[in-house]
Amino acid sequence: MTTTRTQVCIIGGGPSGLLLSQILHRAGIDTLVLERQSRAYVLGRIRAGVLEGGTMQMLRDAGVGARMDTEGFLHDGTYVATRNRGFRVDFDALIGRQVMVYGQTEVTKDLYAARDAMDGRIVDEAADVAIQDAAGTPHVTYRRDGTEHRVDCDWIAGCDGFHGLSRQTIPADVLRTVERVYPFGWLGVLSRTAPAAPELIYANHDRGFALASMRNESLSRYYIQAPVDDPLEKWTDDAFWDELRRRLPSDVADAMETGPTIEKSLAPLRSFVAEPMRWNRLFLVGDAAHIVPPTGAKGLNLAVSDVHYLSDALIRHYGGDDEGIDSYSERALARVWKATRFSWWFTTLMHRFPEDGAFGQRMKQAEIDYLESSRAAQTVMAENYVGLPF
Ligand code: APR
Ligand code: PHB
Repeated sequence: MTTTRTQVCIIGGGPSGLLLSQILHRAGIDTLVLERQSRAYVLGRIRAGVLEGGTMQMLRDAGVGARMDTEGFLHDGTYVATRNRGFRVDFDALIGRQVMVYGQTEVTKDLYAARDAMDGRIVDEAADVAIQDAAGTPHVTYRRDGTEHRVDCDWIAGCDGFHGLSRQTIPADVLRTVERVYPFGWLGVLSRTAPAAPELIYANHDRGFALASMRNESLSRYYIQAPVDDPLEKWTDDAFWDELRRRLPSDVADAMETGPTIEKSLAPLRSFVAEPMRWNRLFLVGDAAHIVPPTGAKGLNLAVSDVHYLSDALIRHYGGDDEGIDSYSERALARVWKATRFSWWFTTLMHRFPEDGAFGQRMKQAEIDYLESSRAAQTVMAENYVGLPF
């Protein structure tokens, strides 16, 4: 067995783990990232693409924002549609804020490039990662190339996502979780076509939700609400485009470019929060601690939010101040719950639920009509969509 030492052992080389490693390394704190998959696998994941203002600034401050600022698209607002018509919620006019459309895959590529430029320690394809003695002398073991390895550390950051091992390390009598699984999934496609509109369109329709998004001027991302157990083969490209166009306002649907899809996937939707986000020397970060339905585009942004609080706490700890460490869970969760509420609200408003019935759908249409007519209602939506302050 080999033994090495680091100050913060980070489990998971997704956005949470990479950004935390980057910020701590720049602050002079030693980290080691253990990632189960290959780098190609991690970079092959297709994920969401809307960054809050706080996320943009965190990436810039970490020296990872240059390509985002060059290749990303700043959006001043978004469209909301129902019953064949849409209206715009103007974030910039309402609250002077914007969001950035820039794929999570690109963020992850930029993070890996920055880590490599600083010779950050990242172990890919680390198998059988195990957290040892987080309540005493914390260390992590893993296997690679047939050899057992041990990492002695001061702290362990569980950045290993919803299916990781970190959350399972917290004793059942300490961990509290709440969950809502939604009775539908999102069928998403990527296509080399021009976006249907200059900004995103969130559409509520009797047949179900639809979202028109994009990655750049020649790469579009679309989603429709679909039964989560639908066989993917049922959704030929033609079937997808037909259903999407039935759910978008006809002026958009009639003019939009369709074409072969280059990626198609059906994902379940859930709201999930685990508390506390710290147990002794172990911290939970990002999807390891919480999952939101993608309607509010909060997943990546909440991971960055946790990294903001934890990196601040660890930097202060190594400067002799443990207040951030002691309050990390409470501070991170305060923002997690508000984003979870917004994601649940927007998902409930925009999707068809089996129990809705005619009355339920009319209530949702009435709320969307109110949203269209009220500056106050649009301000509430704008504040939450662009991201509440850290
Ligand atoms: N050992 C090592 N690595 C692991 C283990 C393990 N036992 N289990 C999971 N991992 C790795 C995964 O391979 C993945 O690369 O941890 C990483 C977790 O990354 P994400 O799932 O992307 O989670 P996070 O970094 O918190 O980012 C959250 O990613 O999933 C999206 O919608 C989510 O946008 C949000 C963002
Ligand atoms: C995406 O572009 O993938 C996307 C955008 C906004 C969302 C969800 C996904 O709310």
